[in-house]
Amino acid sequence: MIDLAQLKDQITNKLSGITSLIDLEETKSYFLGKKGLITVAFKNLGSVEASERKLQASELNIIKNDLIDRLNNLQNEYETKQINSNLNSEKLDITLPSKKIIKGKIHPVSQVIDELTSIFSEIGFSVAEGPDIENEYNNFTALNTPEHHPARDMHDTFYLDKNKKTLLRTHTSPVQIRTMLKNKPPIKIIVPGRTYRCDSDMTHTPMFHQLEGLYVDKNINMGDLKGCLEYFLKNFFEDNKLKMRLRPSHFPFTEPSAEVDISYKIENEKIVVGEGDKWLEVLGCGMVHPNVLKNVKIDSSKFQGYAFGVGIDRLAMLKYGITDLRSFFEGDIRWLDHYGFDSNDVPTNYRGLSK
Ligand code: PHE
Repeated sequence: MIDLAQLKDQITNKLSGITSLIDLEETKSYFLGKKGLITVAFKNLGSVEASERKLQASELNIIKNDLIDRLNNLQNEYETKQINSNLNSEKLDITLPSKKIIKGKIHPVSQVIDELTSIFSEIGFSVAEGPDIENEYNNFTALNTPEHHPARDMHDTFYLDKNKKTLLRTHTSPVQIRTMLKNKPPIKIIVPGRTYRCDSDMTHTPMFHQLEGLYVDKNINMGDLKGCLEYFLKNFFEDNKLKMRLRPSHFPFTEPSAEVDISYKIENEKIVVGEGDKWLEVLGCGMVHPNVLKNVKIDSSKFQGYAFGVGIDRLAMLKYGITDLRSFFEGDIRWLDHYGFDSNDVPTNYRGLSK
């Protein structure tokens, strides 16, 4: 005989002691698990007298179903409670403004380097690089710069030792030497990079950027140089009508040497490059001096070359209307936000120009 009244009492007791989902699970297995009281009671029915068995079985079933119902109700109750308390503690306030996503900008110098690289790669130049810390030989001597040249002066150059043997390169031209020592012509490179001079005002900073160009091959002449520069300047300033002129000049490492001016006008107190009857100097250039070729063991009776050097920061100022060079390197995020470029900006639209 199973004491059903006692079982019912136990159930009532257990149920009243439940305070959590864990208690509930425990109660469930206490009665209905493999060795649970009700499960065992069902098993024991076999030993109950046949006349009683049916009645007991149906009573047991009623008790079991009643227990399952009550457990299910309790479970729902606890789950709802749990959800409500989660909702309270993890409340999402959709009226809160979202966090601002700050997207970085590309610095005008990086942008202009990208544009220049893309323009020159169209006509077969590849990019070369050299170190910011140079030796005196590559920066001056190999470039045919005499001992007494003013550029060698302490007032112009940052030397890193007393003997003036190492320095911060004053131009990107030493990369001409490095490249020609390592490679045989034809050589066709551009060299973007940082350069350093003791200078600081609105249009000069101790560190600035240059782009060097060098093309050494057979039968290279001033006409090739002029054609290359015209292509570059028209595409960079996106103006097919841009006028340029070569003005005789002097650099120790080129012969003949020239400076290049481009046409501009002032409109609303701003420089507009391309049209106009004023001239603005933008770069230095010339035919690689035979002494330079000799220094890198290239036979100047067989090979000639042209070279040019242009200030990248100045190009950026002119193209994008930035007036103070010093602001380029102050690292002011508001400045960068204003003058910087989005990463998905197309480097240049020079392809749109008729050639
Ligand atoms: N290196 C020169 C400068 O810094 C520019 C230049 C480069 C001139 C190559 C001629 C040829 O002023």
